[in-house]
Amino acid sequence: MIQTLVHGAGRMARRVLAQLPDRTDYQLLGLVSRTEPDADLAADPLAMAWYASLDEVKKSADLLIDFTLPGGTGTAAHWCADNGVAMLSGTTGLSDKDVEALKDAALKVPVLWAPNLSYGVTLMTALVQQAAAALGASANITITDLHHQHKVDAPSGTALALAAAVIEGRSERLEDLLDPQRLQNPPDDDAGELAFSSVREGEVIGEHSVRFELPDEVIEISHQALDRNVFAAGALKAGAWLVDQDPGYYTTSDWLGPSG
Ligand SMILES: NC(=O)c1ccc[n+]([C@@H]2O[C@H](COP(=O)([O-])OP(=O)(O)OC[C@H]3O[C@@H](n4cnc5c(N)ncnc54)[C@H](OP(=O)(O)O)[C@@H]3O)[C@@H](O)[C@H]2O)c1
Repeated sequence: MIQTLVHGAGRMARRVLAQLPDRTDYQLLGLVSRTEPDADLAADPLAMAWYASLDEVKKSADLLIDFTLPGGTGTAAHWCADNGVAMLSGTTGLSDKDVEALKDAALKVPVLWAPNLSYGVTLMTALVQQAAAALGASANITITDLHHQHKVDAPSGTALALAAAVIEGRSERLEDLLDPQRLQNPPDDDAGELAFSSVREGEVIGEHSVRFELPDEVIEISHQALDRNVFAAGALKAGAWLVDQDPGYYTTSDWLGPSG
């Protein structure tokens, strides 16, 4: 049984908690959340061990599943490294400090960070890389992400991962493309441009599209998440894979293979 801690008690962590009882290979060791579980979170909140911080956890865990916000991920990464616990994080919009903490932790424990844990987006990322490589700078590319109004980061972690896939195909640097100067004043010669568009609206779970505009035609690759359960199921599948890995920093392509 994979002794598991869930870090965070928001929209995503709740879906993971809801699916855990259906997984016979998992045992929930406890929920780590700054806020006390409410009645919606667990039918019987008292039946679930709750820790207000990781420092309170004294039991031995195999895996920590992190769906918090920037800051929370870095704290969890330090704790996992110190306690020999594998860490799976789906948190996006991470700060440099969070990323550094994840990479440091990966020297001691297996770490998988994935901005999107759906199989469909992993496959989409591979398809986008293939299309970008085939089309080169002949296409102008727009990556659009549409999410609910509560989402704090933009572009989304998935949009950035899709951009990284484009860049792998076209040998460009993401840092240059995200330079605020360039975003405000796009180059006059716009051949091969890559642009982001992020929309925050209502309760949309997550939609991404990559649009390749050619002189006389358009190719569009898109994905729509219909339910957050798809990410929670992916997290539990990836977590079961991760606990058997050596220490290291893993991505969804390591877990599912480069083509998803
Ligand atoms: N990888 C994927 O497939 C995937 C899919 C969907 C969403 N996401 C990402 O997952 C993350 C969580 O999304 P969500 O919709 O569940 O967010 P949410 O509903 O806002 O929940 C965030 C949770 O994190 C906790 N938290 C925030 N800062 C913290 C800190 N510094 N230390 C400890 N806990 C902290 C919050 O606790 P308090 O209530 O105490 O503030 C809350 O329980 C986001 O980054 C989102 O973009 C990833």
